[in-house]
Amino acid sequence: MPPVSQAQIGREVLKVLLKERSLLGPLRVMFARVGRVFQIPLPFFHPYVVAGPEAARKVLVTERHKLRWRNADPVTDLLRQGVLITDGPEHDHYRALMEPFLLPGVLPGYKAMIQAQAERVSATWQDGQSIDLLVEFRKMTLLIVIQALFGVDAWDDIPRIWKPILKAIEYVSPGPWILWRNIPRPSYKKPLREVDDYLYGIISARRAAPAQPDLLGHLMEAGMDDGRIRDQMLTMLIAGHDTSTALLSWVFALLGDHPEVQARLVSDLDAAEADSYPHLLDEVIKEALRLYPPIHIGNRVVAEDIEFEGGRVPAGERMFYSIYLTHRDPQSWDRPDDFCPERFARGRKQPPFAYLPFGGGPRACIGAAFGQAEARILMAWLLREYSFEPLNAGEVHAHMGATLEPRPGVRVRVARRAGRGGEA
Ligand code: HEM
Repeated sequence: MPPVSQAQIGREVLKVLLKERSLLGPLRVMFARVGRVFQIPLPFFHPYVVAGPEAARKVLVTERHKLRWRNADPVTDLLRQGVLITDGPEHDHYRALMEPFLLPGVLPGYKAMIQAQAERVSATWQDGQSIDLLVEFRKMTLLIVIQALFGVDAWDDIPRIWKPILKAIEYVSPGPWILWRNIPRPSYKKPLREVDDYLYGIISARRAAPAQPDLLGHLMEAGMDDGRIRDQMLTMLIAGHDTSTALLSWVFALLGDHPEVQARLVSDLDAAEADSYPHLLDEVIKEALRLYPPIHIGNRVVAEDIEFEGGRVPAGERMFYSIYLTHRDPQSWDRPDDFCPERFARGRKQPPFAYLPFGGGPRACIGAAFGQAEARILMAWLLREYSFEPLNAGEVHAHMGATLEPRPGVRVRVARRAGRGGEA
């Protein structure tokens, strides 16, 4: 690409920002024009952004000791001492306590429980009804994470906790607080207290009940106090369902744009044994994670200068490593913006550190296996039981909230498939 002036880049950034109404467009322009290390050119907010395999390897593995996860921002205010935003031995302690309880293999009846939650939510759909899958998947994944990790059937709680949870997600999403850190946010006080009341209610009910072998039971057995348990629960609740909601919604948005892939997937699922999954299912999930990684950036504070091939990032700066840009880097991916599930066909390999939907290194996603198993089970069950006719294909854009989600939603007309009537 020919060299361009700062002013030209500024104009291009502004143009794409106004067109796409999201920072993703400007990030793509900066990546193409400036390279793999750049600063966001906003007044009062100019964090560094790094992308590409070399940066990912340094940020996630070889130079991660130069970075801190804990920051002065709403995520830290909300999650307090949650495993996602602590550093050093404190982080490692929480992580070691929780990791074994997130492996699908150790969660008893995991598959049956996930199918049962999908069945409950989908039983509320009428044949021919138009539904928003962004909403429906949020219901399913909330029920699943609360049941799997805290041993609670949240079906009757959903109407009460729905709005407070959405407000908690909005609280940690990018907003004007990025530029005006101390901006008062009084409208969040009540919903955040309601989320806390819900979690502390679960903790006190469990303290009075017999021990259970799930994540919550284990945190109690380990002697953690109620405040710290609440921090881990809220971290898991948000990180564990908002990501899966985004992933599943993107999968269906992409299938809506590519009906030939959806038809092939349904036919492969019908041909497979009920207990097994065709390879195409994983290919579609992986490609959706590449194009629209729900966690599209990793947020860090630089504690010691880091040198990248594209430039130096000095200590004291805020730095994002961009999973989204890494996944669309033309040096790693052929036709990076196209939906091609076959990139992940059996036997095909990706360059190291080019594909990072779950991050990498010792702080890679603790729920990666959980999230992937959940997506596979939900998609297989839903596509075997229902048909989904896209109603807003091509009209969806990527919104940068707490996760990268398809807005204004994924509208489909849903119908029970002929011959199906609720068998799991
Ligand atoms: C599609 C699903 C998911 C995606 C795409 C995803 C993505 C990620 C990514 C990229 C990171 C690393 C962020 C960074 O480097 O800054 C991460 C960390 C994390 N994820 Fe996930 N995640 C998913 C599901 C889950 C689930 C189901 C849970 C819990 C039940 C979970 C809990 C966490 C936690 C606690 C961390 C922080 C780990 C640490 O710092 O040690 N995630 N996730």
